[in-house]
Amino acid sequence: MGGLHFILEEDGAIVAHASVVERELHTSGHRLETGYVEAVATRPVHQRQGHGSTLMREVGEYIDQTFRLGALATGSSAFYERLGWVVWKGPTFVRTDSGVIRTGEEDGSVLVRLTPTSPELDLSAPISCDWRSGDLW
Ligand SMILES: CC(C)(COP(=O)(O)OP(=O)(O)OC[C@H]1O[C@@H](n2cnc3c(N)ncnc32)[C@H](O)[C@@H]1OP(=O)(O)O)[C@@H](O)C(=O)NCCC(=O)NCCS
Repeated sequence: MGGLHFILEEDGAIVAHASVVERELHTSGHRLETGYVEAVATRPVHQRQGHGSTLMREVGEYIDQTFRLGALATGSSAFYERLGWVVWKGPTFVRTDSGVIRTGEEDGSVLVRLTPTSPELDLSAPISCDWRSGDLW
């Protein structure tokens, strides 16, 4: 997997991981260079000890300093909302060679992180991601 990996180790073993890849999200006429977070996980025996939060705070700082927006897709929005992420309320789409296609099953699972360089955004507007194979969002 490309992008930047954030890793927390304890006694030489990886206890938590997250990665950030660059993608371009479009919404309301803005084309936003976005730090897209994925592969967030804490090793099960180490969960609920604050490691995921520690790692995601580092990831958040990096995104704030580097990108116009942060984004991710998750079924665990509460974990990220505590750390400054907000649910995107508008409909989601993917841009393909043959046009823009709705990704309705992802609605409500996409979260964004506004950074110091984010424009003012309407979180209820449509939003699209660039095409990739595998998970689109
Ligand atoms: C989600 C995950 C990364 C959290 O990591 P963690 O190291 O356990 O997180 P923390 O210990 O920092 O959790 C802090 C708080 O976040 C909340 N939280 C943790 N996991 C959560 C989850 N799955 N859903 C909602 N809230 C969660 C809890 O309020 C927790 O506080 P508590 O321990 O007082 O209850 C971890 O549970 C995990 O690896 N899950 C499996 C993979 C996964 O779901 N990845 C994210 C999908 S995008």
